[in-house]
Amino acid sequence: MQHRDNELRSLAWEEVKKQKEKVESDPYRLNFHHMPPAGLLNDPNGFVQWNGTYHLFYQWMPFKTGHGAKFWGHYSSKDLVHWQHEKIALAPSDWFDKDGCYSGSAVVHEDQLYLFYTGNVKNEAGERETYQCLAVSEDGVNFEKKGVVARLPEGYTAHFRDPKVWKRGDHWYMIVGAQTEDLQGKVVLFQSENLMDWVFLGKIAGSGEHNLGEFGYMWECPDLFDIDGEDILIASPQGLEPEGMDYANVYQSGYFIGDLDYDRPQYTHGSFTELDRGFEFYAPQTTEDDLGRRILFGWMGVPDQYEADHPTVANQWIHCLTMPRQLTLLNGKLTQHPLKEYEAMRGPVLLHSSISIENDQKAVRGIEGRSMELSIELEQVDDQFAIEFYQYAALSYKKRDQILTLSRPHFQDKSRTEFRRVKLEDDLTQLRIFVDTSSLEIFVNNGEEVFTSRIFPQPEVKDLLFTSLGCTSFSIEQWPLSGFIYQ
Ligand code: FRU
Repeated sequence: MQHRDNELRSLAWEEVKKQKEKVESDPYRLNFHHMPPAGLLNDPNGFVQWNGTYHLFYQWMPFKTGHGAKFWGHYSSKDLVHWQHEKIALAPSDWFDKDGCYSGSAVVHEDQLYLFYTGNVKNEAGERETYQCLAVSEDGVNFEKKGVVARLPEGYTAHFRDPKVWKRGDHWYMIVGAQTEDLQGKVVLFQSENLMDWVFLGKIAGSGEHNLGEFGYMWECPDLFDIDGEDILIASPQGLEPEGMDYANVYQSGYFIGDLDYDRPQYTHGSFTELDRGFEFYAPQTTEDDLGRRILFGWMGVPDQYEADHPTVANQWIHCLTMPRQLTLLNGKLTQHPLKEYEAMRGPVLLHSSISIENDQKAVRGIEGRSMELSIELEQVDDQFAIEFYQYAALSYKKRDQILTLSRPHFQDKSRTEFRRVKLEDDLTQLRIFVDTSSLEIFVNNGEEVFTSRIFPQPEVKDLLFTSLGCTSFSIEQWPLSGFIYQ
């Protein structure tokens, strides 16, 4: 299949070359987020640090701004700020992955980089088949496919994908997102001694398991890791109905805190908490780096979300990844924090201290720009406070009920405003906001909640407006962000 592999790789790069000018002319290209060079990007994959270099792969459809037979694109970086675009890691060229090298993860073993991914196949009858596959690299750039290493266990449908692998003691473990024949979303566990031969141990969590009740028809992109002695399971369940302020997107990603009994196997856990409260966040993946940090990247997109209406489609690309975030466990909750490394992108700081607004709306002199970081300390909020971004999106806070709301125009029907909301555990005291050309990432109260969203204001609009009902006093530190070097 070497011939088919080479052919697909060169077709993909020809397409990138062909579309380059159009893609790069787009005013919504971002400064410090990973994007596809053309076509569609979805999940972050294979995030790992190896010999001091971070490798970050992504689901990629080079030929159109829709889904299909995915490739794995590849970025690498020494510092998480300067990124290099590497050659294509995986192309859908073999019988076991011909309709897509779907999501998966990476581990390092005996100085080689192992990629585990799902081979997606549509057979002659038009039915889906799935295989968990392996590709290995000695140099971190060229990957040799080793074929299928784990197959569908009995009782499950072919919605069986997104292997995440880790080592514990002398054994390797793999979890896979799954669906039982009675259409319940699950996470299942495999074990291996050599990364090649995998034994099915059983399901560990899912809809109808433990204390959950009905909880989705398919669980995508599971991830399991330890923070402070707790086993954290991240998953992206599909099929949850909106419930109050929760589950407002078509699909959502969240986590459980619990304990995995590897012998039974079974995962005992608390309730599901959404990782993000914005409009676009899905399929996150984590790794631990050599500083012992658990770092997460997500897809700043959601599946099945009116893709045709994204303004960037006209310029032949769509979607991006989130900023990386460090996860910590604080009072029984996962909090998310921008990485220290991103401070390298900051220009000179502008301080705006002791601002007071009373029953008024105003701009703050100097606070403008479409690539910046704002750190806002709220000293006093009497009643309501809001920030309007570029006459497009708004973040508003009602002190009475501690509800924080992000709103923006509906992508399809622009006369309609959409909302995403969360009730905070405490008063709003702190916001860290990262604005990129067409994205917003808002870290609330030291990462207790995050709102991640794409925004598409008129490119020339650069100003923010602050509104207060009653009196609000606050201070802002503001940095222009240079964007990362992106080759
Ligand atoms: C999540 C997902 C994964 C799958 C991949 C295909 O967005 O549906 O489950 O592996 O995308 O691109």
